[in-house]
Amino acid sequence: MNKNRLSKTMTAALNAQMTKEAHASQIYLSYASWAEHHSYNGVANFLFRHAQEERNHMMKILEYILKRGAEVKITAVPAPHANPESLNKCFEKIFEHETDNTKEVYRLVKLSFEEEDWATWNFMQWFVKEQVEEETMAMNLLDKIKIAGGEKLSGNDLYSFDRDLESAPDDARAAQDVTADRP
Ligand code: FEO
Repeated sequence: MNKNRLSKTMTAALNAQMTKEAHASQIYLSYASWAEHHSYNGVANFLFRHAQEERNHMMKILEYILKRGAEVKITAVPAPHANPESLNKCFEKIFEHETDNTKEVYRLVKLSFEEEDWATWNFMQWFVKEQVEEETMAMNLLDKIKIAGGEKLSGNDLYSFDRDLESAPDDARAAQDVTADRP
């Protein structure tokens, strides 16, 4: 009796996304190490926390594949991108990475729709919402860094930016959770 509830195509696509989340974790880990090396300790703290969050995303997909009776394939994770040349570039790359990941999430949603695999469609909605939060977070940080001077960020502005990130929340607030009295 076949207990596998995922198609071959869906299993391959979910496994690929699982690896992509592991890759994201490596990217954040390498940027965090780069930041720590340059004494941007607040930025490093934020990025280390985010690396862990990406690993949680990976685990969510891994668990889902197993729960649906399909096979998980752990493969090599691509090396992270080269280190950024500046804090400004670091956050630009993070934003690009997140928008790229959103495209992959949408691809999975489309596939689940085409296959009428409503369980996976439903599962993927968590990632759709999460990507809105992650893109908002990356956008907000990019805005902050541009206001503080972009490539010219230094001195007090750099100090404040770095210190703020130490205590910055891991996720931006989702638009769905906003109310008129709590905008
Ligand atoms: Fe798992 Fe940053 O997306």
